[in-house]
Amino acid sequence: MALERTLAILKPDCVRKQLIGEVTARIQKAGFKILGMKMTRLTKETAGGFYAVHKGRPFYDGLVEFMSSGACVPIALEKENAVADYRTLIGATDPKDAAEGTIRKLYADNKGENIVHGSDSAENGRIEIAYFFSESELVANGM
Ligand code: RTP
Ligand code: MG
Repeated sequence: MALERTLAILKPDCVRKQLIGEVTARIQKAGFKILGMKMTRLTKETAGGFYAVHKGRPFYDGLVEFMSSGACVPIALEKENAVADYRTLIGATDPKDAAEGTIRKLYADNKGENIVHGSDSAENGRIEIAYFFSESELVANGM
């Protein structure tokens, strides 16, 4: 297994529900190292660019609206097998389908407002981390 990076985002519903601490604790207890973390509010343009792969799909406009509706918390993570292990930790996109004990099963209301984002490949993990963090902001690099 390779050391990988993946991007988590605590979505606006996570922030509104006061779950930043609980969700971050679950991520850390699962063995992920936090390389960088910030709170930010996405514009529609930034949210739309981030999810550009979904442009044209029926849920795209709602997704952009939701992701720009309040503060969110991007977190750059590192771990062996980070991409797959993080997606296992968060569970399926729709909390109805998510396994027991996963973050989305525990905290998400529905498929659109599902608490967290996760990269879907190691390559996209690097690209998505670079969307939010400069290399010098990944402060755990030298730890
Ligand atoms: P994410 O990219 O946010 O980690 O989620 P994912 O891979 O599990 O799911 P993806 O297919 O990439 O969809 C991105 C986000 O779009 C919203 N969505 N809503 N209402 C719907 O049918 C629907 N489908 C997708 C969700 O917020 C999903 O996480
Ligand atoms: Mg996705």
